[in-house]
Amino acid sequence: MRDPEPATAADLAAMRVDYGDPLFVPADEPDLDETWVSGGWEPLLRCWIEQATSLGVAEPNAMVLATVSLHGPAPRPVARTVLCKGLSPDGITFYTNYDSAKGAQLAGDPYAAATFLWPALARQVHVRGVAERVPAEVTAAYWAARPRDSRLGAWASAQSRTVASRAELDRRLAETTARFADVDDIPVPPFWGGYLLRPDEVEFWQGRRGRLHNRIVVRIDGASTRVERLQP
Ligand SMILES: Cc1cc2nc3c(=O)[nH]c(=O)nc-3n(C[C@H](O)[C@H](O)[C@H](O)COP(=O)(O)O)c2cc1C
Repeated sequence: MRDPEPATAADLAAMRVDYGDPLFVPADEPDLDETWVSGGWEPLLRCWIEQATSLGVAEPNAMVLATVSLHGPAPRPVARTVLCKGLSPDGITFYTNYDSAKGAQLAGDPYAAATFLWPALARQVHVRGVAERVPAEVTAAYWAARPRDSRLGAWASAQSRTVASRAELDRRLAETTARFADVDDIPVPPFWGGYLLRPDEVEFWQGRRGRLHNRIVVRIDGASTRVERLQP
């Protein structure tokens, strides 16, 4: 992975996928339209994640989560990838360290946006809304399914804080491993848990030939929803 050939500006400018020929999706896939979300946004998002999973897409539940940092003279967006670990008509759930940068940002401004991208399927989904902490029982149920290594890692890492070296990180893990050596069921750290992102907007995007893509947005306002098509 060292010293890769530098990508030239010409290479990047020439990179182009014609979404009429996605790698896996049949070229004759019908156009995404309003009827695809007639059952709500959640079944379609679930279906797209399931299709990406069955086609062997790596990390099919990965989403880029954007939050707002109020730390500085003006609000700034910050984005990073997390995994969607739950999906219901109420929203999408992810797990993280509540004391992390994203945790602090969500405490300052709970508004967040998440983007799923499956390039091989020529599909993208944006979810925008307010993120709230899930009840401790929900976190506990998910934590119970986490492997021991992941539990130790959650305890050992003060996520988003600086660390002097890799060796220091390894030392923290060794200490944590020793601390829990006699504990079968490592408990949930008090600083760790889930967030539910409750969407007020979910946009489905389907790549099409000639950049005339399909965009269908579901806008949610309390009990009422509105479905609209956006220009690409
Ligand atoms: C594919 C992928 C999945 C990830 N999933 C998670 C996750 O579910 N939760 C999490 O806290 N970090 C996850 N991360 C790490 C985050 O991207 C990020 O580095 C970390 O949460 C710290 O972010 P922050 O400092 O902005 O809070 C994932 C990274 C990748 C590349």
